[in-house]
Amino acid sequence: MPDQIVVTDDGGIRTVRMNRPEKKNALTQTMYAAMTQALHEAANSDAIRCIIVAGSPGAFCAGSDISDFQKRAEGGLKPVTLDFLHALVRNPKPLVAAVDGIAVGVGTTMLLHCDYVVAASVSRFSTPFTKLGLIPEAASSLLGPLRIGHARAFELLVMGHPFSAEEAKAAGLINAVVEAAALEDAALQAAREIAALPAGAVALARELMRGDLDEIARRVDIEAACFKERLRSEEARAAFAAFLARKK
Ligand code: COA
Repeated sequence: MPDQIVVTDDGGIRTVRMNRPEKKNALTQTMYAAMTQALHEAANSDAIRCIIVAGSPGAFCAGSDISDFQKRAEGGLKPVTLDFLHALVRNPKPLVAAVDGIAVGVGTTMLLHCDYVVAASVSRFSTPFTKLGLIPEAASSLLGPLRIGHARAFELLVMGHPFSAEEAKAAGLINAVVEAAALEDAALQAAREIAALPAGAVALARELMRGDLDEIARRVDIEAACFKERLRSEEARAAFAAFLARKK
């Protein structure tokens, strides 16, 4: 089986690629653990000056794997997801995302921890948390309104309205929209530009701009506690069962 997270380093840039295209890069516990490790390694490496997170053609990430959610509701899996979210919060390296196509759930909320997001014009951002009986995660209840304002964040995170690439750019969720064929080059160019800047100045400027990381980490934990309760709710169980049993 090919690696579902592929990590490559080149010229001071680490690329962390989600690679489970047959499931639209829905993230399993194993994938979360591999991404966490990739972030930790980058944090401890002077050689790595910027990280790109990328997906597959047409699928950035379909969110957490819903069958994992279902197992967690039944008390099965360890919350590896939480380790990943904390690694994102504490990650000291500039983070660029290259989004092509689907960005659902954590596929969208992880972007709130990114510094520069470029998306293919066909991309669609959505967070159907409440439709699944869940609540926003990844500190998105804090960072979403800060990044795009309460009104738009409510529409995205609570009402579950999808945003097109252009709408996401207008909202300030992402930086740039390009044609799919130009996406990887655009992300690499941004990462190279960041990596070429004086690393100390970039790190300090970024730290000052990101605000109180303890507060962000606390919000991750508060949301996680609520999320855990919600996973066990009748609303969530019914939504997961309906997704997994759906006929296409
Ligand atoms: N968890 C588990 N499996 C998922 C998944 C997820 N989050 N997202 C997609 N998949 C699986 C599908 O079940 C399907 O598997 P199958 O081929 O074995 O039946 C495969 O990935 C391809 O998905 P499909 O639905 O056929 O692709 P699509 O392009 O028509 O739709 C999505 C893509 C992402 C819009 C749709 O799959 C979807 O809504 N997924 C759920 C997203 C979600 O709610 N995530 C959690 C957010 S909190």
